[in-house]
Order: sequence, then structure tokens, then C-alpha cells
Amino acid sequence: MVLAIETSCDETSVAVVRDGRVLSSVVASQVRLHAEYGGVVPELATREHLRQLIPVARQAVSEAGASMAEVSVVAATRGPGLPAALRAGFTAAQALSFRLGIPLFGVHHHEAHLYSPWIAGHPPVADWNAFRPNVSLIVSGGHTMLVSVEGELRHRILGGTLDDAAGECFDKTAKLLGLPYPGGPWVDRLASEGDPAVFSFPRPLLNEANHDFSFSGLKTSVRYFLDRHPGLADDPRALRDLCAGIQSAIVDVLASKTVRAAKQSRVTCVTASGGVSCNSGLRRELQARCDRAGIALRIALPSLCTDNAAMVGILAERQQMLGVAPTPLDSEPMPGWELGAA
Ligand code: KG4
Ligand code: ZN
Repeated sequence: MVLAIETSCDETSVAVVRDGRVLSSVVASQVRLHAEYGGVVPELATREHLRQLIPVARQAVSEAGASMAEVSVVAATRGPGLPAALRAGFTAAQALSFRLGIPLFGVHHHEAHLYSPWIAGHPPVADWNAFRPNVSLIVSGGHTMLVSVEGELRHRILGGTLDDAAGECFDKTAKLLGLPYPGGPWVDRLASEGDPAVFSFPRPLLNEANHDFSFSGLKTSVRYFLDRHPGLADDPRALRDLCAGIQSAIVDVLASKTVRAAKQSRVTCVTASGGVSCNSGLRRELQARCDRAGIALRIALPSLCTDNAAMVGILAERQQMLGVAPTPLDSEPMPGWELGAA
């Protein structure tokens, strides 16, 4: 049984995993704590992880109906992430591994995201191989990347954002519109009642022959537009249309470049995870484009799109089963760890 810990950013999460099944997954989100600052404050995040880790772990073990004596592997996110936040969870995992005399698996946060579409409510583990190779979109507040998943534990980055992540673009444009942090879910909600054709915003790199993204220009274009139309976002109808226009620009780029990468790679499956893959417009657009291209689509359940320890535990269990060596007990967290680098 695996006890997994995730503290790379602003969610303190502990999960218990056994035989490819998530027995419990507890997430203590810090979103409210950081809201008044309009973004994640690293020192506050670390302090909160340290405060929450033990109660969250206790709850995860209890909800799993298990006891600490049954834990045979401990896993934690080793990187990438906020340095001190990562260290909080990783050090706790090291201490447990030392105390219980069980192996430690320090896993890559994005590699763990690649597993989240396959957890619960989707085809069971046995079906995974039928869906590889695939192209996976990881899209959150900190990251936007396309990954070619060639086989289990074998993947290659196809492209990523050259500046802001898509979630950052949602959050920053939402702030310009006067919406609370994090703005992504607000834009999603308001966009569902707006008309995307009223205000049109640029689709950066949409037609470039690469797998990269760029969202800072879109944010700037929204800023200039609002400067030219002061007070526009105070009108509820215009606000909904602005949200619809912004969301449709972001979604158009993400969905079309993802499906294009899948076609070019000749894969028959696309997966998506990360906080922004909760976005209803993105889920709809990816589904429509995949259907047209005859490509299967697996998006993580909304509760597993955002950061969670369940995906960390699932990956660690697979690593152990496939004979990956445990992480040495005296290793360090790796805040700048690149996917695919040793
Ligand atoms: O994966 P996540 O919880 O944390 C990291 O950034 O690693 O993602 C959070 C991001 C935020 O930018 C948030 O605004 C965005 O995901 N997000 C959404 C939605 N739900 C969360 N963006 C657009 N639509 C949503 N429904
Ligand atoms: Zn993440």
C-alpha cells in the first residue's frame, strides 16, 4: 500500500493507493489563503503545508480504512515546484521512509499528471496500454505543455509555453476584469452565459508549425482593449461576453494545437489534466475536435485535474511494479526538474 504526499504548490494532499486503486485522496486547498494576495505566496504556502500535513495524512489513512502498519511504500512529489513547499512534503516522506524502513519514491509532478486521466471513472488500469502512445496536454496555473507518451514511463515533451501558462492567462485577464482570484473558474462560469463572437481576441501561435504556446500577448491585448473601453467590464452583459471571448481564444489554441499534435504523431488517443482542464469550454472543444478526428479523449475527472496526491501514489506504485529503483533517502527535492531529465 502506498502513502503519497503532494505539496509542490498550494494544495496539501495525501492519498492512499493500493493495486492501482485510490483508497483515499484528501486535498487541503490553500486557495482562500492566497486569494487576498492575488497569487500564491511561497512562504505562506510552506507554513500551511507544515500545518496541514499531519491532519491531512491522518484523514487519508482513516478514510482508506487502513493503518500505518499497512503502508509499504511512501511517495512524494520531488519536483518541479516551489522549493520550500516541495521540501515540506518530501522531507515528511523521507522521515516516514526512514522510520518505517520502507522505500521512498520521489516522483516528477508532471509525470504524475500524465496518470490522472486514468484514475477512477475512466477505463481501468488494464486498458492503459490500448491507449498508448498518446498525446497529453498538461495545463495549469504554472504549466502548459504537450507531452508525447510513448509507453509506460516513456515520454517526451513536444512543446510548452514560451511565457505565461494558460491558467495564468485566465487568472490575469480575470483580474483585469475585476474578478476574484483564481479567475479561471469565474471566467468559465460567466463565459457559459456569454457570446464568444462579440469580442474577439488574438490566438497566439495558433498557426505556427510547432507545439508551443504563448499567452502573454493575449493578456496584453485584453489590457489594451479594456484601456480603450473604460468601464466596459462593469456592464454584466459585456462582462459575460468578454469572458466568453477570452475563454474561446485560450481554448481554441489549446484544443487545436493538442489535436494537431496528436494527428501529426499519428496517435489515436489524447489525454488532458491540470487545473485548466476543468474548464467546460476546453473539455467541450477537445471532445468535438477529437470526435471529428476519430481520436479517443481521456480527461481527468475535475477533482483529479487539480494537484492531488492520488496521481503521485498511482505513479509510484507503477514505478515500483516496473522495477524502478527507489529514491535514495538522502536525496534532495528538485524544484527545477524537467520532465524526462534524470
Ligand atoms: O493544477 P492547478 O490546481 O495548480 C497549478 O497551477 O499547478 O491549477 C490551477 C489553475 C488556476 O490558474 C485556475 O484559474 C485554473 O487552474 N482553473 C481553471 C478552471 N479551474 C481551475 N481555469 C479555467 N477554467 C476552469 N474551470
Ligand atoms: Zn500540477
